[in-house]
Amino acid sequence: MARNLRIATVIGARPQFIKYAPISSVLQMKGIKDILVHTGQHYDYNMSKVFFDELKIREPEYHLDAGSGSHGAQTGMILERLEKVLLKEKPDVVCVYGDTNTTLAGGLAAAKLHIPLVHIEAGLRSFNKRMPEEINRVVADHISTLLMCPSKTAINNLLNEGFKNVLHGGEFPSPEEISFVKQPDPDHPVAINTGDLMYDVLSLSLKNPRVANSGILKNHGLHAGSYGLMTLHRAENTDNILRFEYLLEFANGLAKELPILFPIHPRTNNRYPDLRKRLHKNIIPLEPLGYFDLLHILSHATIALTDSGGMQKEAFWLKVPCITLRNETEWVETLESGWNILQKDYKGTHATNDRFDKIYGDARASERIVSAVTYALS
Ligand code: UD1
Repeated sequence: MARNLRIATVIGARPQFIKYAPISSVLQMKGIKDILVHTGQHYDYNMSKVFFDELKIREPEYHLDAGSGSHGAQTGMILERLEKVLLKEKPDVVCVYGDTNTTLAGGLAAAKLHIPLVHIEAGLRSFNKRMPEEINRVVADHISTLLMCPSKTAINNLLNEGFKNVLHGGEFPSPEEISFVKQPDPDHPVAINTGDLMYDVLSLSLKNPRVANSGILKNHGLHAGSYGLMTLHRAENTDNILRFEYLLEFANGLAKELPILFPIHPRTNNRYPDLRKRLHKNIIPLEPLGYFDLLHILSHATIALTDSGGMQKEAFWLKVPCITLRNETEWVETLESGWNILQKDYKGTHATNDRFDKIYGDARASERIVSAVTYALS
């Protein structure tokens, strides 16, 4: 029965390609072919294709070529083009990931056509509505039929917003428990703690020799444990000049002690064309990196500085101390564990401890997600 289920997957931004990879492998293993739609939100080779190549994701059935634009224009373009695809393909279910404009548009397109929506990475909250991501994820959650949560915190956030149907008390469900989820509907959505998909993809990728053999450190004359790694691209940082200047000064200060590799996101690059001239000489600007190179340099870094959600967790899993360049984080467990600290709380030292719980799961999120979708919606 599961084989006949028509799943449409809507992805379009860098972190979504990474999260989709392990799901795509499990679908393949189960002989299920989904309809893959790339919205085109990210389109440069090093923001998109490199992840398809490295993580062996097949060519999408549809490219919507939405490209850049204001939030309204980008979201609207995806919504309009995706609706046509969904009307033609008539999938039984649409899966969206994370919190980007692609997630919002994909969710709206599905919900308006009364197609059950699965939100993967549901329930996260920064409690900061000035972040476009917060708006996207709150809306996506509230129009979803199945909510796949990466952590207990995410489950609790949903409970606090009135969601009632939480499988297995918010603990990881067994396959038997998952098989009891039958035909949920958007008026009675079901939330499941699946664990974090990024742990699946990280665990698998660390076994890939291309991570260990990446030549990127050698190319820059750096050695393991002798540098930091920074990424900075969130709109709340890049679009507020004073905030951006402040963070730049902070990073330039740290660079006096330690070289810092800085792969620059196109958003940041576009906003600050003179950025390279304003970096301390120990900050080494790079083009955006593929996943394997990024894992290589992150795993050997002394410290990570980032406003990316994904990198906060990757640093945690790789036991690299992280300073989060934001005033809050959705990944509060990383703060509680001591491996992560918000920049505003950083006082020149970083007290890490050995607490390392499996708070984000056991690297089997993709199996749980695919089981839940196939049982619930077949
Ligand atoms: C998006 C997500 C963010 C996620 C990030 C990961 C939203 C609201 N935000 O932000 O949650 O953390 O992706 O990267 O969806 N650009 C290029 N080449 C590309 C892609 C983008 O030059 O391949 C430029 C665009 O012209 C635009 C800027 O980068 O000016 C921002 O792109 P956009 O897709 O709006 O959002 P991100 O900042 O990437």
